[in-house]
Amino acid sequence: MSKELIRGIVFTDFDPEVGPNPILWVPSDLSETIRMSVSIKAITILTADQGILPTSLIIMPFPALNLKGIIKYIEKEDDRRRGGVIQSAITLLFNEIDDLIFYKYLSYLEPIFNETSQRIRDIVDLLTNKEKIQSELDNLQFKILNLLNDLRIKEEQSAKREAFPEKSIEEKSILKYKFKIVVCGDPGVGKTSTILRFTDNAFRASYISTIGTSISEKIVNINRKSVLLILWDLAGQVKFDIMRNHFYKGAEAGLLVFDLTKPETLKTIPKWHKDLITSTKHKGKLPIFMVGNKNDLATQRKVERKEAEFIAKELKLEYFETSALTGDNINLVFEKIAHILTK
Ligand code: GTP
Ligand code: MG
Repeated sequence: MSKELIRGIVFTDFDPEVGPNPILWVPSDLSETIRMSVSIKAITILTADQGILPTSLIIMPFPALNLKGIIKYIEKEDDRRRGGVIQSAITLLFNEIDDLIFYKYLSYLEPIFNETSQRIRDIVDLLTNKEKIQSELDNLQFKILNLLNDLRIKEEQSAKREAFPEKSIEEKSILKYKFKIVVCGDPGVGKTSTILRFTDNAFRASYISTIGTSISEKIVNINRKSVLLILWDLAGQVKFDIMRNHFYKGAEAGLLVFDLTKPETLKTIPKWHKDLITSTKHKGKLPIFMVGNKNDLATQRKVERKEAEFIAKELKLEYFETSALTGDNINLVFEKIAHILTK
């Protein structure tokens, strides 16, 4: 069994002072982008659950990396830490296209992760004892590869090949056009709703504020080309600066969203704009659209089209009015961006 099935393992310490901190990983040359993305995503789930650690394994997508991860959270009492506990996580990374294997056999992996987690909890002076953690990670990788090997042999013998692919990764087509689009704006303006309308054609009336970052994706066809849009949804309130820089890094386009019923959310658009252009290397070249959302709420509307257009003009942005509720102009906005990006 090739090591390729496991792309890496990251051990993250959720240090309350510095934010999510990947302290150990395998292989040793695992890129910093991967280490950081994984650690940030892992803490996003944690904060979403009010700090209560999920006990079972969680599978998370990392579309920008073409990877998925299995996360196991670990908690250990330690008086030196605020709250008296060290919160940490192990994330095991695999290729998106192998997800059938991992979903199908997740219950087989659970005891292995539990054992590793127990052994890590047993390490004295956890945060300084890096060698011991490292050997636990190596061990985990070894055990999982062995297990998967056994399972594959079993599948082959039963002649019912379901999860394990016959084709290698290289043979599968890889999307050529792939763009990261960041969506920013004040809390509650409808960033998540706009994305949800576009990706799933759905709407959620209740307001569940996004915590940290959430990433989704959708393939659109532009001039007979398949284009993958990776949409990064930033919480209106950002807790960690480290997360913020990571959020903007590598962005190829941006949407700045405000709420047509709340003039104060238009006033902050220049701030979001500045944030975006100073955090990405593209500066003036980045396609950025300004979006006035909730145009279905005609009677509650408090921003005139002219006012919004004036600000858009000052910032040299194209302006659209949308409704995530009715779907008005939502696809248009994303498709226009995709058009510009593929040119
Ligand atoms: P944060 O994640 O906190 O930054 O907020 P957000 O910008 O992601 O806002 P979200 O998409 O969660 O929407 C906030 C509220 O506005 C929710 O109750 C949505 O149902 C509602 N909403 C969003 N878009 C529209 C819209 O176009 N029309 C109407 N009527 N309501 C909307
Ligand atoms: Mg949101």
